[in-house]
Amino acid sequence: MFQIIILAAGKGTRMKSQTPKVLHTLCNKPMIHYIIGESQKITSNIDVILAHKFDEVKKSIENFNVKIHKQDLEKYPGTGGALKEVPFIGEKILILNGDMPLITAEEIKKFFEIDADIVMSIMKLDNPDGYGRVVIENGNVKKIVEQKDASVDELKIPYVNAGVYCFKKEILEKYIPLLNNNNAQKEYYLTDIIEMAVKDNLKIKALEVNEKDFKGINSKKDLAEAEKIMCNRIKNKWMQNGVIMRLPETIFIDAYTEFEGECEIESGSVIKNSKIIESKIKANSVIEEATIKNSEIGPMARIRPKSEIIDSKIGNFVEVKASKLNDVKAGHLSYLGDSEIDSGTNIGAGTITCNYDGKNKYKTKIGKNVFVGSDTQLIAPVVIEDEVIIAAGSTINKDIPKGSLAISRAPLKIVKGFYYKFFGKK
Ligand code: UD1
Ligand code: MG
Repeated sequence: MFQIIILAAGKGTRMKSQTPKVLHTLCNKPMIHYIIGESQKITSNIDVILAHKFDEVKKSIENFNVKIHKQDLEKYPGTGGALKEVPFIGEKILILNGDMPLITAEEIKKFFEIDADIVMSIMKLDNPDGYGRVVIENGNVKKIVEQKDASVDELKIPYVNAGVYCFKKEILEKYIPLLNNNNAQKEYYLTDIIEMAVKDNLKIKALEVNEKDFKGINSKKDLAEAEKIMCNRIKNKWMQNGVIMRLPETIFIDAYTEFEGECEIESGSVIKNSKIIESKIKANSVIEEATIKNSEIGPMARIRPKSEIIDSKIGNFVEVKASKLNDVKAGHLSYLGDSEIDSGTNIGAGTITCNYDGKNKYKTKIGKNVFVGSDTQLIAPVVIEDEVIIAAGSTINKDIPKGSLAISRAPLKIVKGFYYKFFGKK
């Protein structure tokens, strides 16, 4: 039986953040959610070790079916200390750092498949900064030296510990109690097991892996680099599924967004937690928590949460929030919030749903085939029935019955020759 233990108790000091390290997000999804998700493809025996900001991290992972343990950070700090409280139940136990969100189930599987007392992961890097160095002599691993404890020569070693290990159960049972904290950080290092196991002639296998799957996140710079890799994975997947992306390197698609049918996304667009079906998203549009179906959005449109846009055309500088639009055209410069707008309706440039009176939010309902003239203010709550014409520049503060014209306009005054009187004749 396989067991996976995820270490997520550390303080993450180098992130310089109030947010616990493992809750920092890549493509809108917390690092630890990726790691648990991939682990669950392998086994249901998953233990997660928490301590720093325990309640906050626990709440974030509560819905995953994992066992949560608390590390005693005061008494036993460090990645070795993290394993003091966990029951070892698997015959093979894989340990994963909680700060390596790029890891995949496919990579994890390889560790279980190799027959050895310990399978560890190494990477050869041009820039090994931040990682523990792996001391190798005559092709055999000797020990792992943490960066803070490394000598000048050891710091030059290009081989680093990638932070994933698979142990036979009896190895952990034997060596975890033997770890000590005689090092620069006064921590119990899990990595010290390697040197002890070498001395005891155990079979250690080093699996060479790539940073694109094993990168550890210790700083905001690491986070940005990993997010780029993750976002590319997400975009590549959708392109393989038939989504057209114009200059994909400029597009941000989060981990929760889904596409259906043939969609096209132009450069500079940001799409989060949305469902896009058979639609075109033009350049520099931002869409969050919305459903877009058979529609054209943008360029430079903003679709905010709880919006549902079907068979519609939304143009530049239109902001839509919590609104349902069905077969609607809103081509330019509008705010449509808390509204429901029905088929055949045209929203003129500069239309605003005045949905907020300073205390509460109210709804605007617009029926079928309504012509809303430019620069209309719809003071919610308000209902515009079907087949209504609203004249440009109107302020609508009453419900408008079916088939009517609604016009509110100060009379136009023309004063002939005023220009010359004011500025003087040339
Ligand atoms: C660790 C390894 C290093 C390796 C690198 C790979 C050790 C001692 N060092 O270093 O050799 O190159 O990962 O990315 O293991 N954690 C706890 N409890 C603690 C401390 C940490 O659960 O007391 C967790 C953290 O939340 C984190 C993970 O362990 O998810 C790794 O800790 P981190 O401080 O990032 O270790 P590194 O310095 O990166
Ligand atoms: Mg780390």
